[in-house]
Formats: sequence, C-alpha cells, structure tokens
Amino acid sequence: MSLTNKERQSLIDLANEARKKAYAPYSKYKVGAALRTKNGNIYTGVNVENAAYPQTMCAERVAIFKAVSEGEKEFEALSVVTDNGGSPCGGCRQVLAEFGLDTIVLIANREGRLVKEMTVKELLPEAFTPEQLESN
Ligand code: THU
Repeated sequence: MSLTNKERQSLIDLANEARKKAYAPYSKYKVGAALRTKNGNIYTGVNVENAAYPQTMCAERVAIFKAVSEGEKEFEALSVVTDNGGSPCGGCRQVLAEFGLDTIVLIANREGRLVKEMTVKELLPEAFTPEQLESN
C-alpha cells in the first residue's frame, strides 16, 4: 500500500492539530498521532502524562486504542508529530506490530514536515507477533 503526497500531508496535519491537545506538563514534549484505518477512518491521539510518571500514555497508543475500541484493527498508516521529528518508542512499536507489520509510519516535525517514512517491519525488525503464540 502506498500513500499519495496529499494523503501523507493530511495525516501529518491532523496529528499536528491533535498535538495541541497533548497533556504534557512534566516533559513539555507534546506528541500528536493520527491513525488511518483500512476503512478510511482516522483516529487521533496525544500523549497524556501523569503526576505518577509511569502512568503516562503515548500519543500513538492512544490513537491505536481508540481505533481498536471502535472495532477497527486494520491499519494503513500512522503519523506522529513532535517538535523535533522524534521516533516512536519501543512500546508503541510493539503495539503497532500487533496489528500488522506493513502499516506505514510517518514521522514529522513541528512544521508538519515529513522527516522519515517507514513500515512497522522496518521500525521493529524481528518483531514478536501474535503468530508466534500459535505453536503453543
Ligand atoms: N511519547 C509519546 O507520546 N510517544 C512516543 O513514541 C515517545 C514518547 C511521550 C511520552 C511522554 O509524555 C513524552 O513523550 C516524553 O517521553
């Protein structure tokens, strides 16, 4: 699956817009995500921090959990926007891998400029996936 430049930019812009709602009073590192499903629906997410720091949830996982909780598990692409074009954390890569290694990941910066594009497979090589539990 591939995206047009217009689709790429639109997914990045939605993540950047969502980013304004990030709750990041501790790190001040605001993250926005936008996930496009195979049905063409889009779920956004932001990081939600907590005074008990480990309870913080990443923007990517918020978007994924919103989609799954609405019954959607087939994803096309996820955009992630931060000030500096930061990369998704290991936990989010693992959660993405659960739903498919071919999902496209777009990483963009505060200007909404795409800095990197790759698949989940490239982001998390040798991923542990649900199939590996099947031989049990
Ligand atoms: N964060 C995300 O939302 N996604 C990532 O993939 C990396 C980190 C958030 C968590 C925390 O609120 C802040 O960025 C700094 O780690």
